[in-house]
Amino acid sequence: MGSKVSTMAAKKRKRIASSFHSVTSKAHSSSQNSSYPNTPPNCTIDEKSHTVHDHSSHISSVTESMITSGRTFHHVENSAYWFPNDDEEMDRLIGVRLDLEHNNALVLDLGCGPGTWIMDVATEYPSSEFIGVDMCDVFPNNIRPANVSFQVGNILKRLPFSDNTFDFVNMRLFIIALKKEEWPILLKEAYRVMKPGGYMQMVECGMLERGNEFVRQSGTIFREMIETLGQDPYVAFKMKTLMEQQEVEVCHYENIDVFLGKQDRLSKEFLWDVCNIFKSAQAIIQEPLGYHTDNFHQFLEKLYKELQKKPDAIWSFSICVGRK
Ligand SMILES: C[S@@+](CC[C@H](N)C(=O)[O-])C[C@H]1O[C@@H](n2cnc3c(N)ncnc32)[C@H](O)[C@@H]1O
Repeated sequence: MGSKVSTMAAKKRKRIASSFHSVTSKAHSSSQNSSYPNTPPNCTIDEKSHTVHDHSSHISSVTESMITSGRTFHHVENSAYWFPNDDEEMDRLIGVRLDLEHNNALVLDLGCGPGTWIMDVATEYPSSEFIGVDMCDVFPNNIRPANVSFQVGNILKRLPFSDNTFDFVNMRLFIIALKKEEWPILLKEAYRVMKPGGYMQMVECGMLERGNEFVRQSGTIFREMIETLGQDPYVAFKMKTLMEQQEVEVCHYENIDVFLGKQDRLSKEFLWDVCNIFKSAQAIIQEPLGYHTDNFHQFLEKLYKELQKKPDAIWSFSICVGRK
């Protein structure tokens, strides 16, 4: 967790021209969809990559970026996602991991980012097959386990997979990606592509609301920014309801507090992550925090120190697992 692996992200960046383009290196043959009865018209199935190719869809250049305050951001129309998609952000995202107890499965990771979760789990479960989808091609195209492939796609549009395809669907840290009303769309689509009896897992973080005054004030400004953008700062506590609304049977819900001032390795890595979340949010949050480009590093240095003071600064993560 927290290892700096920007070289991995830096080695790729091959811009691909299709909004649902498979970047797996294996040679795939497309075929008509004999074993996929619910394939939409004008589509064929690549049975090896479990991908629906929509021949009627508009082919365009994908993952165009724009630069603001020295950071690179996606340029995807109508997307509420407001964090950067550059190598520095991929370093931050590579900072968090979880366990998955499943094997010989077909696994989908939605909004996979740089592929942190999928690559860890795929290495642990070599006999399962893993597909990551993200609207930006920030995932590794070349260096990845043999049982992993990635595709560019917008999860708010129909996913390029048939109904009942996956044993496990993972969705992690969409809190800053989706507007409030977009959560049911994501869950509905995830449900559609899951096999009956398959599992979905959501992991989301809470707000920074416990700690000293400086920490709480900073957390409040971050929360207000999320609300201003039409997003839900407390979605971590609503995941059960969101799943139940899609008739997913919730089998596990857990909330974990992370003490950011503790000196163990894991706590230090979460401390690093919180500071880097604020760093990634600089373009949009520096002004409400009362800083500007030239002195924002002073805010980050202060935050790093204050997060380690009493009363304890606590950040929480929630995990929800449900069954179709
Ligand atoms: C905070 S990152 C989390 C990445 C990864 N799930 C993780 O836990 O490390 C959110 C990711 O969601 C992607 N994303 C946001 N909106 C999306 C959409 N509508 N379709 C596909 N990916 C999306 C972003 O490009 C970004 O990589």
